[in-house]
Amino acid sequence: MVNKVTLTQFIIEQQRGLPDASGTFSMLLNNIVTACKEISHLVNRGNLVGVLGSAGSENVQGEVQKKLDIITNDIMVNALNWTGHLAGMASEEVDDIITIPAQYPKGKYLALFDPLDGSSNIDLNLAVGTIFSVLRCREGVDPAAEDFLRKGAEQVCAGFVLYGPSTMMVLTTGHGVNGFTLDQDIGEFILTHPNMRIPEESSEFAINMSNQRFWEPPVQRYIDECLQGEEGPRRKNFNMRWIASLVAEVYRILTRGGVFLYPFDLREPSKPGKLRILYEANPMAFIIEQAGGACSSGRERILDIKPTGIHQRVPLVLGSKNEVERIVAYHQLG
Ligand code: F6P
Repeated sequence: MVNKVTLTQFIIEQQRGLPDASGTFSMLLNNIVTACKEISHLVNRGNLVGVLGSAGSENVQGEVQKKLDIITNDIMVNALNWTGHLAGMASEEVDDIITIPAQYPKGKYLALFDPLDGSSNIDLNLAVGTIFSVLRCREGVDPAAEDFLRKGAEQVCAGFVLYGPSTMMVLTTGHGVNGFTLDQDIGEFILTHPNMRIPEESSEFAINMSNQRFWEPPVQRYIDECLQGEEGPRRKNFNMRWIASLVAEVYRILTRGGVFLYPFDLREPSKPGKLRILYEANPMAFIIEQAGGACSSGRERILDIKPTGIHQRVPLVLGSKNEVERIVAYHQLG
């Protein structure tokens, strides 16, 4: 029989390699995993358990909340607030930071998450996911919003779960990227995609073309050159994909390369891009870089940006290194 490595075993073995590790971080990850298994189950049951459709409310970004946005946020919060491993949390679905209830001990980590990314896909039975990021926190403090406003380069762990035909968790703690598939029969994530690497070259791009008239010239140029195919300066044909679900796009890029852009656009200059830095761009940037890819706003490495607000947005370009570097170079030309 083939020896299966469970996510729990993988995390504990990684921890053994770190002389100062107390096990707290492994336990925190296990709690995140438990929450994601519960979300996977709910997403899979869909309207059999009445969880689809709109909740009739809006989140802090003015986006219509789905019932599952709220339910999955509660699942994450309730799976993590009692553990004693966290000093606080931040979620896409909650305006302010989430404090740890007074009856529970506080720990030395902060968890930031988007409990159900791509939730506009949920009623269509298309791929959605959970994205999470873990930061260290000064021990014994009651964190304020400023304690969360840290560069992505400071993350100790980032991951996402893709609820697709299979449920998959992709994880990095800064030592490469590994993918695990949920074995529904035994309720465990199994290591199925060790050491994921992104091909440097690619001929596939993902962008919401309906926003084309609002893009800046460097992005117009890059996409225009891709569309010209063999007859254009790139001298090869490109393929396009748009799933409208960041987790699914990043998973595709980790698997077969490519580039994803949600660039700055001129619709609302006060909102630079669509995706949020702390719980979308940063964790994805950590994963993509650890898999050999690159991630930029077009002008700056995502992991070097100092955020100024919990729900701050950022233009996002990520994927195969050579393509991202080309897009950054076009931005530098002006
Ligand atoms: O909220 C984030 C998100 O749903 C991402 O998962 C996805 O990449 C993007 O928004 C889709 O944007 P649009 O609605 O413009 O297609």
